[in-house]
Amino acid sequence: SINDQLQSIKPKFFLIKMIKVKTVYSSFIPLQGPLLALRDWVAIESDSSNVLKRPDLHRMMEMAAQKLRLMGGTVELVDIGEQELPDGQTLALPKVVTAQFGNDPNKHTVCVYGHVDVQPAKLEDGWATDPYNLTDINGNLYGRGASDNKAPVLAWIHAVEAYQALNMELPVNVKFVIEGMEETGSNGLDAMILAQRDTFFSDVDYIIISDCGWLSRRPALTYGTRGNCYFYAEVEGPKQDLHSGVYGGTVIEPMTDLVGILGDPSGKILIPGIREAVAPLSDEEWRMYQDIQFDIDNYKNKIGVNELMYSNKVDLLAHMWRYPTVSIHGIEGAFSDPGTKTVIPAKVTAKFSIRQVPNMDPAMVKKQVTDYLHSVFAKRKSPNKLKVTMVIGAKPWLADTQHPLYDAGKAAVKRVFDMDPDLIREGGTIPIARTFQDVTGKSIIMMPIGGFDDGLHSQNEKMSRYNYIEGTKLFVAYLNEVSQIKHTSV
Ligand SMILES: *[C@@H]1O[C@H](CO)[C@@H](O)[C@H](O)[C@H]1NC(C)=O
Ligand SMILES: [Zn+2]
Repeated sequence: SINDQLQSIKPKFFLIKMIKVKTVYSSFIPLQGPLLALRDWVAIESDSSNVLKRPDLHRMMEMAAQKLRLMGGTVELVDIGEQELPDGQTLALPKVVTAQFGNDPNKHTVCVYGHVDVQPAKLEDGWATDPYNLTDINGNLYGRGASDNKAPVLAWIHAVEAYQALNMELPVNVKFVIEGMEETGSNGLDAMILAQRDTFFSDVDYIIISDCGWLSRRPALTYGTRGNCYFYAEVEGPKQDLHSGVYGGTVIEPMTDLVGILGDPSGKILIPGIREAVAPLSDEEWRMYQDIQFDIDNYKNKIGVNELMYSNKVDLLAHMWRYPTVSIHGIEGAFSDPGTKTVIPAKVTAKFSIRQVPNMDPAMVKKQVTDYLHSVFAKRKSPNKLKVTMVIGAKPWLADTQHPLYDAGKAAVKRVFDMDPDLIREGGTIPIARTFQDVTGKSIIMMPIGGFDDGLHSQNEKMSRYNYIEGTKLFVAYLNEVSQIKHTSV
């Protein structure tokens, strides 16, 4: 069985870490394949936010599809249409890659979701190495997209390859859904999932997402993500920008109005109804947070601050994961160019977002925020005009950690790492989890393999060899554990 196989090859992996990574590793998956594959994938600048890079993105999708085809998968590149650009032109969206390995009706079917587009990156942004030339420094593999999300997608592919290389039947049927627009909001994917609900997704039992990271050096399983409501608040006054020397003192300035309504200096959410909607912290949750490995000093160092909003672990974790937060991201129309320009902007737009947690409802939040801002604005008796719009309304996602999928995850972590995983949540938003849940009705698990310090979306993003290799083993073990879940009517 795969258990015996894993047991028998495990000693070799200990050798790997201490002696020669490449040679011994190749006995598991042929010829350093994983490192070369990651190098080739990172070399493609698949930046979904840059329309000029769209050809690279198409090439990336084709490359992923080709990799799966060569492994004998049933692969399709699904056309998901076009996107409209601000200038009215249209641009073809990168196709979604779907693949299938095995279709034995007596086995469970898992579907792995991942993405191969990346955030922008330039050497000049402050990278120590060329972001598109995978560079190994002390066992860390630096490159844009290495951790988010190319290595995790490849690790899943290698997990299938491992079974193939050992001439072993896959214990479950494995499907893949790989998209290329995640970093800009998964344009087109919701519609594709809905369209294939009764075809591609009909026999899927479980969905697995590995698009997040651990919280510490301890492996983790993720059971929740926050949602996000993103707002624009626009205040419009005079018909054009004005000279502050000539008109200042006579005009009621839009910027003053905007800053006046934006909020309370304490950073707390004052909007009525929002805090009331939040599910209370249970004793059990409190105990779970107590047990999680989280080094506050390390966290402070990582972000470069001396003080945080809360000083104890449970409060910090709770406010990172299970309470809402508001962030003001910027003000448009405010002439951010350096220099001492003396202008009164005629129209300014604040951009802010509120992270969503159970049991908040984006539709309700939209109304609460809009009503609140208008009521505060009305008190100012300003002649200027306020317009509030919500441009993103993504719901939070929360899984049941008692589900057999999580038991299987705990068992796989135990097998590979010889320890229990932390059960964590993600403060960020992975909207597709909620879509999968709402549209397909399937159970979902998030099983990260990225390190806590991988620098996603930031300079010097990396994936460690350790996480990549051990992560692949985790996925191999996980497929085996999932196959042992008792069949129930799902
Ligand atoms: C990547 O970096 C290595 C080491 O600096 C260099 O030798 C190699 O030529 C680079 N490759 C590309 C494609 O730029
Ligand atoms: Zn990602």
